[in-house]
Amino acid sequence: MTEPSDARETALTDRERLAGSAYRSGRDLAARQAFHRRRTPRYDLPGLAAERLAGVRGSVVDVGCGNGTFVRRIRAERPDLTVLGLDLSPGILADVPGPVAVADAGRLPLASESAGAVLAMHMLYHVPDIPGAVAELARVVRRAGPVLVSTNGERDKAELDELWQRAAADVLGTGRGPDRLVFSDRFTLERAPALLRAEFRQVETLALPGVVTVHDPAPIVAYLTSYRAWADQYEAPFEATVERARAIVADHIVRTGSFRVTCRAGLLVCRR
Ligand SMILES: C[S@@+](CC[C@H](N)C(=O)[O-])C[C@H]1O[C@@H](n2cnc3c(N)ncnc32)[C@H](O)[C@@H]1O
Repeated sequence: MTEPSDARETALTDRERLAGSAYRSGRDLAARQAFHRRRTPRYDLPGLAAERLAGVRGSVVDVGCGNGTFVRRIRAERPDLTVLGLDLSPGILADVPGPVAVADAGRLPLASESAGAVLAMHMLYHVPDIPGAVAELARVVRRAGPVLVSTNGERDKAELDELWQRAAADVLGTGRGPDRLVFSDRFTLERAPALLRAEFRQVETLALPGVVTVHDPAPIVAYLTSYRAWADQYEAPFEATVERARAIVADHIVRTGSFRVTCRAGLLVCRR
């Protein structure tokens, strides 16, 4: 699936919703980042990305840089590089130290072959025309430079899908509730290499599986709540479903001691 094909996909890629609500500030993104920091085994995606920049010179561009996690880390580890953060949302860029600029991944305001490396971390699933954005990443990077892309695999956080369906079914009084919204369905770790190979000769996948185990419903509730910008897409009252999910998780923890969520993120390293 590359072009938005239904109302939910359109909502996931709608620029007004992304810049004006979902990523108007870093609040909801930070909630998801905090959830991921609980993963075991622990791994450090910004550190892995910085490692992949060995040998890169000049400028690095972080497309869809969000609240600047990768920008800050690369600047700290590689003060010799100029790291430019680009994002669709002026609001989320307000707290990221410059240089930063508002820009769309579909049309990067950069000269061809001008960047030593390019990052597009957990963001291509929000772009309406994914092949077009991949072509832009390939256009602006210098021939030998890496393009780092991250996303999630199929059945990432499947336990949250099941939890959401059950909670929504309880709220609606139906047998099976509607599906949870999952960003990465548009650009999964499994399907990403085929899309990236249209522009890149080499595409290496580094799978980074892990498990988040919680002993209190709060991190699950914070994660589910972080999708509030898409509350109208859920076919079940959003807040009531989150509250029902809280009760289901609390009950599960009382009975079994914990609630586990399986995460299937990964990093793709591409070269032209
Ligand atoms: C899930 S966040 C990831 C942020 C950051 N890359 C990270 O991994 O922490 C997605 C980011 O991509 C941005 N974004 C979405 N569509 C975009 C587009 N077409 N062009 C540029 N940025 C976009 C959003 O505003 C948001 O900040």
